Amino acid sequence: MCGIVGAVSNKNIVHVLVQGLSRLEYRGYDSCGLAVVNDAQVLQRSRTTQRVNDLEQNTKLLEGTRGIAHTRWATHGKPNTDNAHPHFSRDLIGVVHNGIIENFEALRNKLQKDGYIFTSQTDTEVIAHLIHQAYIHSPKRDLRESVQAILPQLHGAYAIAVIAQDAPDLLIGARVGSPLIVAYGVHENFLASDAMAVAGYAKQMTYLEEGDIVALQSGRVTIINSSGKEQQRLIKNVPEQVASVELGPYQHFMQKEIFEQPTAISNTMSDIEKIDFDLFGATHEEWKSINQILILACGTSYYSACVAKYWIESLAGISTQVEIASEYRYRVSVPNPEALVVVVSQSGETADTLAALRHAKSLGHHKTLAICNVASSAMMRETIWKFQTKAGVEIGVASTKAFTTQLLGLYLLALSLSKLGNGSEKIDELFEFNRLRHLPAALNAVLALEPQVIAWSQQFSKYKNALFLGRGMHYPIALEGALKLKEISYIHAEAYPAGELKHGPLALVDEHMPVVTVAPNDELLEKLKSNMQEVQARGGQLYVFADAHTNIQSGDGVHVIRMPENYGNLSPILHVVPLQLLAYHTALVIGTDVDKPRNLAKSVTVE
Ligand code: M6R
Repeated sequence: MCGIVGAVSNKNIVHVLVQGLSRLEYRGYDSCGLAVVNDAQVLQRSRTTQRVNDLEQNTKLLEGTRGIAHTRWATHGKPNTDNAHPHFSRDLIGVVHNGIIENFEALRNKLQKDGYIFTSQTDTEVIAHLIHQAYIHSPKRDLRESVQAILPQLHGAYAIAVIAQDAPDLLIGARVGSPLIVAYGVHENFLASDAMAVAGYAKQMTYLEEGDIVALQSGRVTIINSSGKEQQRLIKNVPEQVASVELGPYQHFMQKEIFEQPTAISNTMSDIEKIDFDLFGATHEEWKSINQILILACGTSYYSACVAKYWIESLAGISTQVEIASEYRYRVSVPNPEALVVVVSQSGETADTLAALRHAKSLGHHKTLAICNVASSAMMRETIWKFQTKAGVEIGVASTKAFTTQLLGLYLLALSLSKLGNGSEKIDELFEFNRLRHLPAALNAVLALEPQVIAWSQQFSKYKNALFLGRGMHYPIALEGALKLKEISYIHAEAYPAGELKHGPLALVDEHMPVVTVAPNDELLEKLKSNMQEVQARGGQLYVFADAHTNIQSGDGVHVIRMPENYGNLSPILHVVPLQLLAYHTALVIGTDVDKPRNLAKSVTVE
């Protein structure tokens, strides 16, 4: 999604802005740009629909001690140069913006009547003109006051950074609904949508709160709230893990992150000594009346929640509903105040999931839990209870280590909820603990299958479509495998519960249709084998990830990669890994941009 960097310094900041943008590239974008005020007090900008590298070349001659920069992921208007940020108003005001201004059409009509000429199709341009209008009528030409004055007119979500051609040593920021941080350097200060942008330049930072407005000078930062009262906000260290994100020996971040999964799992387990409600910051007293679980999430996080439904219902005996956040927030549902509402998210900023959480709260759901990878995120702040997955920063747009650590968090939730005594069997805690502790080693054994997956990827890259099959708690794993493949290789892929095949999708199967099958050695295996025969009989090509001792052999039209022993309830965490590798290596053969697939963004902060 869009990214913001702003800086005010006692020296030229063009390089800092470009570096900041390049550290935000992972979020996904389709144009980028920056603006500075030069020594001659001229507001200058450069914008491109190419990469940040190209912007760097184009801005070699620009100079300035204050500036704003942006990576744009198109929402309003095409990804072209005119729509790229920064947007100017009459060469006096420059603005970059993340989020969406919902009432921009009404504002634009009004501004046009006032004589403003629009040069883009964006919602952002109205912000620049509104600030301009307030600024030129401001008796003291106070940029901060002018920004503050127009904010109530904006409906929607925004994080903005603003400079004025005639306001030296000043950069203004404001946020509602979209994240924005202030970072503190030596004789320079920064604004950014993500701490990643300033790593290397600042050691300390502040997360701005809803409605905050900030005035940055090279030697001073003043934060006020929406009613204009000065605020002291917490100053934190820029997280070390943010500063140390490097590719190392890997070709792509996705590959690195797939191989980091054993470490991510052991980090997430590291401080856990017993299974209990306090893993989530809760007590038995607080959770004893929970009679339903409602999990809200999007994309890959949604699939982790789908696996959790099997775990929670079977281990804890509590009815569990999983909903796609963007659907839940707009449908009429029946609230249950005793339900635990769980949001699952890597970023903790996904607009649909956040809105669904707020919607649930507005319906009277007051028991809320976030399972999330970013401790400072909005979801972690807006829920009562929290569990942080310790996957570390995930750069690849295709989520991998965040998914497996979410599964771990959700499994721990199922085990903890089993202590409420609604399940049919008592959990053997020692057994569960040993399994969990052994999980990183089991993951390493699966990662060792990479060469076999590479061999498949050569054939796989020639297909135009693929089907993925799974049963039970491995059906969501099939869904996740199909999502990974389509996201980064652009091969069309769909997943089905294997039993559904004969109810429709079997019509698609012929010798050109690869059917990837997740085949754990569990109680559904014999059923799954019958489904596989349905495929074989129609000439389909089966690519099977089969546990040891499943008695599924390679043969005509059947390709088998043998997984380790079945891993019981935790098997989905192992079975997703070869599917991640298959998507990665197939994309590599096809030659797509693996870490930044077309049209996608890492953190989807707009609806
Ligand atoms: O940050 P979140 O986990 O809330 O993000 C949800 C989805 O946008 C995300 O999982 C998306 O589907 C990934 N690109 C999948 O690889």
